[in-house]
Amino acid sequence: MTLAGKQVILGITGSIAAYKAVLLLRELTARAAEVTVVMTAGAEHFVGPLTFRTLSGRPVLSNLFDPQSDDAVEHVALAERTHVFIVAPATANLLAKAAHGIADDFLTTLLLAARCPVLMAPAMDGGMWDHAAVQANVTTLRERGVTVLEPDTGALASGLHGRGRLPEIETIVEEVERLLAPVRDLAGERMLVTSGPTREPIDPVRYLSNRSSGKMGHAVATAALRRGAEVVLISGPTALKPPAGAVYVPVQTAEEMREAALQHLGTATVVIKAAAVADYRVERPSATKIKSGGKRDGWSLDLVANPDILKELAQKKGGAFLVGFAAETNDVRAHAADKLRAKGIDLLVANDVSQHGIGFEADDNQVILLDRWGGVLDLPRMTKIQVAHAILDRVLALRAAPKPRRTPSR
Ligand code: PMT
Repeated sequence: MTLAGKQVILGITGSIAAYKAVLLLRELTARAAEVTVVMTAGAEHFVGPLTFRTLSGRPVLSNLFDPQSDDAVEHVALAERTHVFIVAPATANLLAKAAHGIADDFLTTLLLAARCPVLMAPAMDGGMWDHAAVQANVTTLRERGVTVLEPDTGALASGLHGRGRLPEIETIVEEVERLLAPVRDLAGERMLVTSGPTREPIDPVRYLSNRSSGKMGHAVATAALRRGAEVVLISGPTALKPPAGAVYVPVQTAEEMREAALQHLGTATVVIKAAAVADYRVERPSATKIKSGGKRDGWSLDLVANPDILKELAQKKGGAFLVGFAAETNDVRAHAADKLRAKGIDLLVANDVSQHGIGFEADDNQVILLDRWGGVLDLPRMTKIQVAHAILDRVLALRAAPKPRRTPSR
């Protein structure tokens, strides 16, 4: 795709991967983008500004306090006319400053002034990427709408092998193109998405629930909205903000989720059930707080099965395309294939929730997509928003394909 007429800022920070920014700049200018390079002082230790100046045909910005330059006062105007702001490589230090709004050099000051989509391509040692502080900063940035790519796995500058390499230049360019030309292939679709856990009361202060954070379901809703769909998001209690533009229906219990889902099913063209519904509820929740003093010898709760919402939706869905999730801890594929048949749905998204870094609460997921016509798609680990886009791509592809292809194999 041509990027003619697109103003791009390419921020470069102090990582050994700064030399790869030269290749990224070449790819962007080859697509006719007008690129302004901004370097931190750290980046200049790795590659000289002259290289970037020559390839971009523009001055390289770096010193916010240069008295000879008008660049500093110009930064707000530059940020305002920019279509996409890339930081590649983005060090742990840059991610931390961006997450906390620190503006102590040209690049971080420009980031605060930017109103365009921001894309960060991290590069650092694997141990640093996994550090809780870095992960918290990445989560903050993603929640604010910044696209933070996952680093690649491979040989690192430290001599170790792990996750932390700058993503492939091709991946970064593809993401830039996506941000600049948002796809509206779901315009006219009405999506019903469920997300988060349910809470089944024991008494007014206690409940049964599970570890679902709502990140997966909210990512599906966000991705669908970005692609032009109308979205009804039915969610159990989460700490997440509902995505802007969604009709948001907060619920607590499985019964409430069922009621809301049935109410919105009639108008939905696609239903995606990412919620982790509690399978059981307490038969007779107490109206008053149960005194712990009275339970010193143990406490038994009588549980009854909750309605299987997904199965009921499959029976009543009419023409809607129905996607379910399967949270498994072993023999994921076999259990998922059984669940696909038992629930009578069109597509099942299976994830292994016993794996660290994916599934419940994590920012990433790794899923297998099994469809009722026998197709199986094994996807690599990705961010939840990327998984969401992959699910939506699959829904569109399956709906467009001639059917029936074949019945699912046992
Ligand atoms: O929310 P996150 O922290 O981001 O975590 C994401 C996730 C792990 C919750 C998500 O990826 C996921 O796997 N969601 C489904 C969890 C689940 O309940 O799986 P299950 O295998 O128990 O249920 C299978 C399907 O039936 C699900 O689509 C579920 O919504 C549905 N179901 C289950 C029970 C029930 N009583 N009614 C239902 O509709």
